[in-house]
Amino acid sequence: MALIAPSILSADFACMGEEISKVTAAGADWIHIDVMDGHFVPNITLGPPVIKCLRPATPLFFDVHLMISQPERYIEDFAGAGAQLICVQVEACTHLHRTLQQIRQAGCQAAAALNPATPLEEIMYVLEDLDMVLIMSVNPGFGGQSFIPAMLPKIRRLREMIDKAGLPVKIQVDGGINGDTAGPVAQAGCDVFVAGTAIFGQKDYAAAIKELRQKIAAALTSNKK
Ligand code: DX5
Ligand code: ZN
Repeated sequence: MALIAPSILSADFACMGEEISKVTAAGADWIHIDVMDGHFVPNITLGPPVIKCLRPATPLFFDVHLMISQPERYIEDFAGAGAQLICVQVEACTHLHRTLQQIRQAGCQAAAALNPATPLEEIMYVLEDLDMVLIMSVNPGFGGQSFIPAMLPKIRRLREMIDKAGLPVKIQVDGGINGDTAGPVAQAGCDVFVAGTAIFGQKDYAAAIKELRQKIAAALTSNKK
């Protein structure tokens, strides 16, 4: 089943707890939390103390996307704050295998994100250590950017790689997901759809989530024909 993970990057930071409760009531599956350090990416967002404060706002799964340098320094802090999945950027990890083990040892699911220009080969030898691979379909740092079409064949190839290995690794796609792109991304093999602007940029969060689900379902049905 396709999962919808609203990215709180596009929510109102002045009332983030309420925003998370609203999107939970609107039918979200996960909450995607973008952590940026002003070093790995140009933008700065939030850290473990804020996540800890947001934790009581929802029972939903906290998917924490670390766009930070040297993420291994902070894994235990994010786990302690309530992260259930921690995703590191492969470009930020000198010892990716070790960092993935560290995430699982901290009691979280482990994921690795690939920037648009980073080849799939980077995660080829750590597939067994991963619960999810995140394909960045924009350059990380900001919400509201356009989906990079060259990511579609990348998602398809990753799907083949995972299926061939027979592993239960999920594929997440992040960046520029909306009513137009969700269908093709679903057909390419995505399991978890991150959407910031397409949900928090709308007045009615439930309608926005419903529209994404409908586009995904329609695309998957036409794929089977
Ligand atoms: C970008 C972040 C995304 C971002 C997506 O660096 O990782 O999660 O919030 O925003 P939209 O859905 O607006 O492209
Ligand atoms: Zn993200």
